[in-house]
Amino acid sequence: MLCSYSPKLFFFLLLHLFLASTEPIPSLPNVEKLSFHEGYTQIFGDSNLMLHHEGKKVHISLNERTGSGFRSQESYLYGFFSASIKLPSDYTAGVVVAFYMSNGDVYEKTHDELDFEFLGNVRGRDWRVQTNVYGNGSTSVGREERYGLWFDPTEDFHQYSILWTYDTIIFYVDDIPIREVKRVSSRDVYFPLKPMSLYATIWDGSTWATSGGRYKVNYKYAPFIAEFTDLVLHSCATHHALACASASVLSPEQRLAMESFRRRYMTYGYCYDRIRYAVPLAECHVGPEKELFLMSGESRAYERRHRMKRRSWRGTADPGF
Ligand SMILES: *[C@@H]1O[C@H](CO)[C@@H](O)[C@H](O)[C@H]1NC(C)=O
Repeated sequence: MLCSYSPKLFFFLLLHLFLASTEPIPSLPNVEKLSFHEGYTQIFGDSNLMLHHEGKKVHISLNERTGSGFRSQESYLYGFFSASIKLPSDYTAGVVVAFYMSNGDVYEKTHDELDFEFLGNVRGRDWRVQTNVYGNGSTSVGREERYGLWFDPTEDFHQYSILWTYDTIIFYVDDIPIREVKRVSSRDVYFPLKPMSLYATIWDGSTWATSGGRYKVNYKYAPFIAEFTDLVLHSCATHHALACASASVLSPEQRLAMESFRRRYMTYGYCYDRIRYAVPLAECHVGPEKELFLMSGESRAYERRHRMKRRSWRGTADPGF
């Protein structure tokens, strides 16, 4: 039994060695945490949005009546956006918590979007995290990736962040970079290049969120409450551009951590989905790791590898980094 733990343990030790001493990721100077009133505004859900601790903590909830959500007051052309989020626990199938950048309200046909989407699950199964990128209205071409996590996101707050510069996008979970999107050439039309606002929402995604819509939201378990704190809106314009550009270059250690995370925790990758994309999209560099994925882009072994172990891990102390 013990030996089944060791690869995971090794992963944690490795990350710990590399990352324990680093500052909040990415290490940007003068990053401020804003209270709700300083940076955000409610967009829907009336009393399903609640402020706590003088607006430093925001609860958004979903019940049979409505979901809820908020957005940044300003829009940003490049920046670092972050929140510590605690997701609703227990039975959450069909529930979607989204933390994302978009300008769909301004550019109807050519909008850009950068997404973290948290997909609820049936009891005993873990939340999935999905990231996606749309640029200039490329919504017919999904670039979804889905991952499991090395912790239970309903037990504690964890930091989810997006760094967006003029040529690089990095998604982070805590201090681990999990996805890097590069703007390689002017042909990369899907790379967002127009100002976007930050959004956080919770809504009923019964039609697709859990196992492609097989499990619906069950309002017997409502309200579903997602908690947000440590809200960061950091512009990478003008005098911050240089610091952002340098933060967007991953160190060899960060890259190793990212690759290790992706190997172990990715449950779906559009680059491996040969049903949707018979020929992988131009930016995909598919290597021998494709053997880990089915035709559908789903990981071959993820459930088998992680489900049993996760249960045994639950309840033990957070291994930390
Ligand atoms: C974005 O899309 C519009 C409409 O399809 C097109 O005219 C424009 O050139 C595109 N912009 C970029 C940067 O590709």
